[in-house]
Amino acid sequence: MADFVASFPEDIRRKAEEVREFMKTRVLRPQVWKNVKGVPVYSMETAKYAYENWTPRKGDVFVVTYPKCGTNWVREIVKQIYFIRDQKSMDIMNERSNNPLLAAQEIFDQGPPAKFIVADYFPCPRIFCTHLPEELMNFKKIEEMEAKVIYVYRNPKDMAVSYFHFLQNTPYASELEHLRPKDFEGFVRQLIKGEKWDSTPEGEWYPYHIKGWLQHKDENCIKFVAYEDLKKDFQGVARELSKFLGVERTDDELSKIGQNCSFGQMKRKNVNTFLGKINMFRKGDVGDWKNYFTEALSNEMENKLKVEMEGIDITFQYEVNNEKVHRSEKLDCKL
Ligand code: A3P
Repeated sequence: MADFVASFPEDIRRKAEEVREFMKTRVLRPQVWKNVKGVPVYSMETAKYAYENWTPRKGDVFVVTYPKCGTNWVREIVKQIYFIRDQKSMDIMNERSNNPLLAAQEIFDQGPPAKFIVADYFPCPRIFCTHLPEELMNFKKIEEMEAKVIYVYRNPKDMAVSYFHFLQNTPYASELEHLRPKDFEGFVRQLIKGEKWDSTPEGEWYPYHIKGWLQHKDENCIKFVAYEDLKKDFQGVARELSKFLGVERTDDELSKIGQNCSFGQMKRKNVNTFLGKINMFRKGDVGDWKNYFTEALSNEMENKLKVEMEGIDITFQYEVNNEKVHRSEKLDCKL
């Protein structure tokens, strides 16, 4: 990585240094843009800069999710699909979790706006992740430049459990401590009332996010992927993703990618990284919500979803047949 950055022109190396310094502070203050309440840790100023001034390139991929729906998993899958035959690029990408500059590159709206000037010195294809809603990403440019979007969704009950735990581990500045949820029921009620800082406007939550992106479901440059489908049939979904990305991968390669992206492998590889330390790889299951939701709370969420998702072409999978679930990750996890 150091060699790689050393190849940048002098002024870009200075900008890269600026980004690195900025990322060390990991500013967590929440920001609003066009009424959307941004997730703390991401920067609306940076998102706005990108919308107005930056153009993606052919091959770039945006992994777009509502929080806790499988962003890091799918980013890893895309990385493996692209670079399984290119160990040098894979090694650079693997440094991401411990390298503030690379982390700033990969998380679309994190870091200062200057990161986009540096981004243009990174080789393509580049993989960006974001929780931004549709209206804050310049979809027209993505389409025109033949970049791609992978939208990952997950059943909202498991998402809520994952989100609750994640917010317990988020390294908040002390003045943001009030954003840390105290009890699960209270958290879910706030979530479904649209009171969280979650990349949607006040009063909105997950359905708003999905519906925004679903407007593009018939475009060739976007693919929708369910977290639960990856659990049920990893290889099948990975094959579809390879085709979508325009990359041919053999069955052996897809099987290797399955091993490299298993929950156990990812957890183990990240033990000492920032992601590992905030317990990003917590459980990785479908149906954990049954351990947290009372029947009443579950009904409350479902009733709200019934109204908000009416006529929407998405089916949430609240459980999957255990027999069929890809379990190798459990077996190879020696933690
Ligand atoms: P849990 O908290 O339910 O375990 P995101 O990356 O969008 O923040 O999503 C995090 C969720 O994805 C966490 O869910 C995490 O464990 C799960 N996840 C990450 N890697 C995974 C993998 N390889 N297999 C299955 N789930 C994974």
